[in-house]
Amino acid sequence: MESLAGKPKDELLKKMLDFKTGKKPATLMHQLSKGYTDEQLEQLAAHFAASQK
Ligand code: HEM
Repeated sequence: MESLAGKPKDELLKKMLDFKTGKKPATLMHQLSKGYTDEQLEQLAAHFAASQK
């Protein structure tokens, strides 16, 4: 699977919010993303966007 590190924050956040709302179908991530508040998902997106590959 492609690395999340260094991906744009907006792209990561949109994908996770789409998993959470069910807009983007998934095998696991729709369940995992529901465990986080929108603010926590934003913090995760910022974290991975700032990480180096
Ligand atoms: C045990 C931890 C995790 C597992 C097993 C897991 C598993 C998966 C799987 C299987 C997918 C493909 C979509 C699906 O079928 O669900 C996926 C995609 C994704 N996951 Fe996770 N995930 C984990 C944790 C996380 C965390 C903590 C984040 C937060 C940043 C995250 C962010 C994403 C994103 C953004 C995608 C979309 C990747 C893309 O389409 O480029 N995942 N994950």
